[in-house]
Amino acid sequence: MPTTSIRSMVDNKTGTMNRSLFSDKDIYQQELEQVFGRCWLFIGTESQVPKNNDFFANYMGEDPILLTRDSKGKLHAFLNMCRHRGNRICRADAGNAPSFMCTYHGWTFATDGKLVGVPGYKEAYFEELDRSQWGLVEAGQLDVAKGGLVFATWDKSAPSLRDYLGDMAWYMDMAFDRTGGGIEVLSGTHRWVLSCNWKLGADNFAGDGYHTYLTHASMQAARGNGPRPGYFGQGGWSMTPGNGHGTVRVGSGQGFNNTSGEGLPDSIAQYHRNTLPETRKRLGDFRANTGSTGGVFTVFPNFSHQVFMRNWHPRGPEKTEVWSWCFVEKDMSPEVKEAVRLRHTWMMGPSGNQDQDDMNNWLQCTAIGKTPMGKKVALNQMLGLNHDTKIEGYPGTANLAPSEVCQREFYTFWAQLMDAPSWNQVKLAPRTIS
Ligand code: FES
Ligand SMILES: [Fe+2]
Repeated sequence: MPTTSIRSMVDNKTGTMNRSLFSDKDIYQQELEQVFGRCWLFIGTESQVPKNNDFFANYMGEDPILLTRDSKGKLHAFLNMCRHRGNRICRADAGNAPSFMCTYHGWTFATDGKLVGVPGYKEAYFEELDRSQWGLVEAGQLDVAKGGLVFATWDKSAPSLRDYLGDMAWYMDMAFDRTGGGIEVLSGTHRWVLSCNWKLGADNFAGDGYHTYLTHASMQAARGNGPRPGYFGQGGWSMTPGNGHGTVRVGSGQGFNNTSGEGLPDSIAQYHRNTLPETRKRLGDFRANTGSTGGVFTVFPNFSHQVFMRNWHPRGPEKTEVWSWCFVEKDMSPEVKEAVRLRHTWMMGPSGNQDQDDMNNWLQCTAIGKTPMGKKVALNQMLGLNHDTKIEGYPGTANLAPSEVCQREFYTFWAQLMDAPSWNQVKLAPRTIS
């Protein structure tokens, strides 16, 4: 464990960082408590539990959880653990069931978390067990963001989801609220394990526009696009609305002009052209014109979006389990949904060509960052340092060229949480847009 405070490991004056935060075992244990134990975490979508008694299994950090819709339609997030001796009460990925019976001794819990069945309650517990005290452990708070995205936190004292997301919610609308019809996650989860720290994926999607011209050059070539001439002069932006969140747009101009659906399969491009007037009405020109996929972003700590939505689940300082989903707008026709699915699968996931490009870099960053010499050498995140700016009409701190402004914010907020004994000591960015 480093002798200095975590905060001092991230130095935004010099744009440097201590690499041990990617591999130190004590830091990892601390972030399970201080970050994953307290932050709002994405756990699924309403579309994955549409009917009463539907459930969907996910994780909050290392804790297995169940997102349920109870028999009256209310959403819950429970630790997927029997209150008797701690067995996992549900081993299915998703489904519909009025209750979950533990396979060890048969305690049974309803979808609202109540303990409704105890074998031997009369004969062996002599009716003395207070069943009302032994229901499933429920998240401290649960809330739903636009598009039907469900978030939960274990911490009852955490700020509201609205305040936690702050102005990030405004950027999330670009992906999840384009038509107001809501989004739908297609069935199935892409899952794979990476030998890297979870923060490397999260920070990449928060704002690493810098790597795209080179890391993804082979993908561009496979698509028939050449290298990107003048990439560094073309603009795009990195933007952080604070609270560790970040979004990045790589592309022509300032990323405000991708209204033609260029580069998309015809059916998807046509869908976006047809819905653009409605999206402009809902989101205004800036956000509507930012393109069909709403940019790339990470909601701190471990929820990212590109053409997917995904969790970077921590599995140890040097291990990450990625859970990734393809989503569509509910309003799309079956043909357009299928085109989105095919494009998603071609690009993303364990066999997608874009994800493959990225990940080997992160494995090497993790492996060498913990060697005796490697861990003593500072990590450089100086890109765009002292050149942050504002873009009129866009909330947050920005940098017009590829920049590490979002990574600096991600690790500053992370370090703040790691050191802070409670949310009262955490400085949240004020929400400026309702
Ligand atoms: S561990 Fe679940 S009933 Fe005993
Ligand atoms: Fe990438």
